[in-house]
Amino acid sequence: MKVLVVGGAGYIGSHCVRVLEASGHEPVVLDNLVFGHRQAVDSKIPFYECDLGDYDKVTRILKEESIELVMHFAAFAYVGESVEHPRKYYNNNFVATLRLLEAMLDAGVMKFVFSSTCATYGEPDVLPMTETLGQLPINPYGQTKLDVENCLKSFAHAYGLSFAAFRYFNASGASADGSIGEDHSPETHLIPLVIDAAVGRREHIKIFGTDYPTPDGTCLRDYVHVDDLSRAHIAVFDKLNERGASLFYNLGTGQPTSVKDVIQAVESVTGRTVPVVEAPRRAGDPASLYADASKAKNELGWEAEHKDIKSIIESAWRWHSANPEGFK
Ligand code: UFG
Repeated sequence: MKVLVVGGAGYIGSHCVRVLEASGHEPVVLDNLVFGHRQAVDSKIPFYECDLGDYDKVTRILKEESIELVMHFAAFAYVGESVEHPRKYYNNNFVATLRLLEAMLDAGVMKFVFSSTCATYGEPDVLPMTETLGQLPINPYGQTKLDVENCLKSFAHAYGLSFAAFRYFNASGASADGSIGEDHSPETHLIPLVIDAAVGRREHIKIFGTDYPTPDGTCLRDYVHVDDLSRAHIAVFDKLNERGASLFYNLGTGQPTSVKDVIQAVESVTGRTVPVVEAPRRAGDPASLYADASKAKNELGWEAEHKDIKSIIESAWRWHSANPEGFK
């Protein structure tokens, strides 16, 4: 399958490009390099520096490259920033995505895989979280992703677009060979920050809240390896042969892992002590988010291979120790 990977130079997209290639598919990358890194994509792979909202250019690329399916990873994903600057989030995550979808429909490309998020659920009242939970996002980031999900449902119904929306839990880890990994600027995610604290690139890690109603008082999350996420994108291909397929899947390991569990695992993997400071809760953090991913298992045969936090952190550690400055 010839696949346009939008945001293919970003963290999850670049891992998916590798997995696509390894499975015999033909990725073509489109990225505006605002957050993506050109070095994250092999120079042999066709690469277009282009914004996903550039209807004319995207339509031309879809036709000239005879693209059969589009994967869309290119989103702004800082929850706090989305509260401060919702315009930016609605413009990129919703309006530009709509332009991309219009280019696809006009170029006759009718298969789409969308990176959605567990943030579309808001504060869950049942754990682990299934796809049937109500979706009430508590920030503009989650809302823009939910808006795209709803748009996709209407397009599937009206135009026969076939799509899968994957609701990721906490994407983490790095490629097995340590050659590509997470490099955000600014970095806000827990695992890279704890690794930085372990090696002394940061003074300490702040634990945001120790009074949550969880076993050790810190937030529980479901850390899922980027390569596992990437495999799900390919596992769904057959299902997209059905016209108008409208599919939603949670992607997580189902393992609740606390902030303190992550710190302990980093200490064990790196053999170093992580200096810790207990800090107040971060606004907008739900206490616990972890997946029931049995729908993806039953329907796609997909299951996370990296089930424990240590193996995820080992891969992140390989990347960070080989590339202390990221892609620079
Ligand atoms: N945390 C700390 N200290 C830090 C950074 C994070 O204690 O310095 C805690 C957070 O409070 C949270 C956990 O570590 O409890 C994980 O935080 P991350 O920032 O790594 O990830 P989030 O769970 O906040 O965010 C992720 C994705 C978002 C997505 C969200 C859905 O990065 O894109 O899950 O809730 F929207």
